[in-house]
Amino acid sequence: STTEPLKVMISGAPASGKGTQCELIVNKFGLVHISTGDLLRAQVAAGTDIGNKAKEFMNAGCLVPDEIVTAMVTSRLSREDVKQKGWLLDGYPRSFSQAESLEKLKIRPDVYIVLDVPDEILIDRCVGRRLDPETGKIYHIKNFLPENEDIKARLITRPDDTEEKVKSRLEIYKQNAEAILSTYSNIIKKIDGSRPKEVVFEEIDSLLSQVQKNKVKSEKLV
Ligand code: AP5
Repeated sequence: STTEPLKVMISGAPASGKGTQCELIVNKFGLVHISTGDLLRAQVAAGTDIGNKAKEFMNAGCLVPDEIVTAMVTSRLSREDVKQKGWLLDGYPRSFSQAESLEKLKIRPDVYIVLDVPDEILIDRCVGRRLDPETGKIYHIKNFLPENEDIKARLITRPDDTEEKVKSRLEIYKQNAEAILSTYSNIIKKIDGSRPKEVVFEEIDSLLSQVQKNKVKSEKLV
């Protein structure tokens, strides 16, 4: 079909399950997943200039300066695969000025998903989170155990996943959330992210399928 591919933003507090849902969304819809957290962690691991600048902000649980992150995102969004497959933006925009940068470039999503999870659950999810550095897959010491002993042995903890840093990340999230929501008020879909991940995904799946259908319809009308 000639239909323009889906454009999706996913937001929510730290550990609300964005990365977990993105993996499932990509498997089903084939969108290009652009996670600013993942992109920044890759820069830090590779020891690039961007990584060296970003590292101290990230480890402290603070936002990395807008100009670093915005340049990274807009350059990724301009690549050919994104035009063909569509995009799934995770962790950006995270401030009003970041949302404005995208608006200026006329980069708008079809839908803005907000994963809604109570604070107590978020802290537990962060502190128990583990990452597989080889595959990037996300686990949890109680909720999602690794498939075998080899994976278990190589799991790592993120430096910003201590209880104290999670609390400061959550504060920063809350300070910015309202202003970003105002930019996307007509396309917001709030989803209860405190339920099991399969249940959360079922709702996202039917939402995105519907959005896609509506896109096809409206393009046929033109
Ligand atoms: P980023 O990596 O984006 O961190 P975050 O927003 O804090 O989100 P998380 O990755 O912590 O959580 P998530 O929602 O993906 O949850 P997950 O699926 O892993 O950003 C990190 C840092 O980079 C920032 O602090 C900042 O410094 C910098 N940065 C990034 N973007 C920036 C920007 N735009 N501007 C400036 N700076 C930026 O799940 C969490 C845990 O819960 C896992 O263990 C998982 O297994 C478990 N879990 C998930 N879903 C469920 C479920 N339904 N039930 C039970 N457990 C679940």
